[in-house]
Amino acid sequence: MSEMNLLGHMGCVALYCVLSLVMPAILSAEFTLASVSEHHIIICTCMQDLVACSIINSSECVCHNHPFSMLEHDDSPSTVTYKRLTVWYTSPLNVARLLNNSEVRYLALAKCNSARGTSLSVHYFTVRRLERLYISYPFWMPGQNHDIVLGRDVGMPYHEEPRMAVIHTDVLVGKAELKAYTVKTMVDSNGMTPFPEMFMPMDDLPDMSSIFVSFLY
Ligand SMILES: *[C@@H]1O[C@H](CO)[C@@H](O)[C@H](O)[C@H]1NC(C)=O
Ligand SMILES: *[C@@H]1O[C@H](CO)[C@@H](O)[C@H](O)[C@H]1NC(C)=O
Repeated sequence: MSEMNLLGHMGCVALYCVLSLVMPAILSAEFTLASVSEHHIIICTCMQDLVACSIINSSECVCHNHPFSMLEHDDSPSTVTYKRLTVWYTSPLNVARLLNNSEVRYLALAKCNSARGTSLSVHYFTVRRLERLYISYPFWMPGQNHDIVLGRDVGMPYHEEPRMAVIHTDVLVGKAELKAYTVKTMVDSNGMTPFPEMFMPMDDLPDMSSIFVSFLY
């Protein structure tokens, strides 16, 4: 699938640093694939494009399996960091938990079961520095996908500006339409934005700096 061209090499991964030590040297053709289900998360480094939701071929990918409870018991906010990440999933909730507070620039999501399912009790998750979101539901809306590039509409060199994406979990559950709305706002001296009810990990931002917040829903 050409959509899989979004894939790239593996970035620094705080949660999985140990794994990267045992992985082979990182080549530019490699990309990171996370397969997320109810109880497990499999993190793979793959050598070539794969058809979304296919069986992961062990001769093309090096994979490590983790019980999801590993993430549940991690008290600190997730610090998953990837430049390019592909996620195949059957559990929208676990994807929201995995990606919440992460830093991913190019994110490709594929929902690998057909049931649209019901909305989740958690309504959003945040991804820092998100530049592009690609999502498909191959078994629910075959042949269709959503592909959103963030930031360009603001007319700024968006890659130089702090950015935060607030993604509604309905996007993971299944949305026939995907919309994005970006606002430029300020972080005050207390690190607060005009959206106090939303947790935004912005420790790395200097006071009074501006930030682009994109809502995807
Ligand atoms: C796995 O990948 C290898 C190398 O690309 C290929 O030769 C083999 O047929 C694949 N196996 C399956 C089950 O797709
Ligand atoms: C995202 O993280 C915030 C802060 O840690 C937390 O309040 C919220 O429930 C989390 N959301 C999800 C979907 O895990």
